[in-house]
Amino acid sequence: MKITVVGAGNVGATLAQRLIEKDFADVALVDVVDGIPQGKTLDMRQSANVIGFTHELTGSDSYEVTAGSDIIVITAGIARKPGMTRDELIGINAKIVREVVEKSLALSPDAIFIIVTNPVDAMTYLALKTSGLPRERVFGLSGVLDGGRLAAFLAEEYGVSAAEVFPCVMGEHGSNMVVYPRFTTVQGKPMSDLMDKAKQQAFIDRCVNGGAEIVGYLKTGSAFYAPSASVAYMIDAVVNDSGIQMNCATYLSGEYGLSDVVIGVPVRLGSGGIQKVIELALNADEKAALEASADAVRKTIAALNI
Ligand code: LMR
Repeated sequence: MKITVVGAGNVGATLAQRLIEKDFADVALVDVVDGIPQGKTLDMRQSANVIGFTHELTGSDSYEVTAGSDIIVITAGIARKPGMTRDELIGINAKIVREVVEKSLALSPDAIFIIVTNPVDAMTYLALKTSGLPRERVFGLSGVLDGGRLAAFLAEEYGVSAAEVFPCVMGEHGSNMVVYPRFTTVQGKPMSDLMDKAKQQAFIDRCVNGGAEIVGYLKTGSAFYAPSASVAYMIDAVVNDSGIQMNCATYLSGEYGLSDVVIGVPVRLGSGGIQKVIELALNADEKAALEASADAVRKTIAALNI
């Protein structure tokens, strides 16, 4: 297998490192800034002796090295600064995503695309329309990361391991994301039974602002350890055909009563990409929240003028 990561910034380079250390595929890291992908991959290759990986790792400012990829991850684009929303990145990032999709698809016509560039729901929609690929092969990072944040906060609060928390965060990867306390469990107990509404809201707010909290600390960039780990987890499911259920930014065609929009929903991820969209039995309020979230993404998509 071969995996390309486009964008050698913090998320892309850390993802390349995580992937090559898994040693299940060749990895190509591409960036328009000449020298950065070459330097970072050279550095990583010099860890092969102690880490023990044997697959090929290449860095380049040219797309030629991406030819024949099975999976292409797009992390290229600018990150937000403190006080900015993800939607404010749309102008520059849409141009970048469109170009990356066109260039990389030409060399890897059978690839699955995983979008990380923000605003990720709209960028996934753009990648889908630009590529003309089926939705199974174009999806984005959202709920795995947002859910990972919620899991960390709940694990800290209840003194359990994060692996004992099953989070459920859907909708937009943005201020309109939807946290579902009824479907989020801590050691099997729903979050909605564990705490009162005010406490639930405090966790929801922290989860929704999870990315901004880190941007606020870093000041000159956004999160990259959890984002890269989340994408590596998604890739693992595809490479190993695990069929694990996880929430991804997905194009909907009638599921949840929504169509022609990309939002985070639970899917079964395995070989070929999205194998099934899983429809949770949402009550009326939960459904309304998802619809409002989809409406917010629709507004961002409209700004793309596709
Ligand atoms: C994140 O959630 O960490 C990313 O979407 C980056 C950001 O701007 O917060």
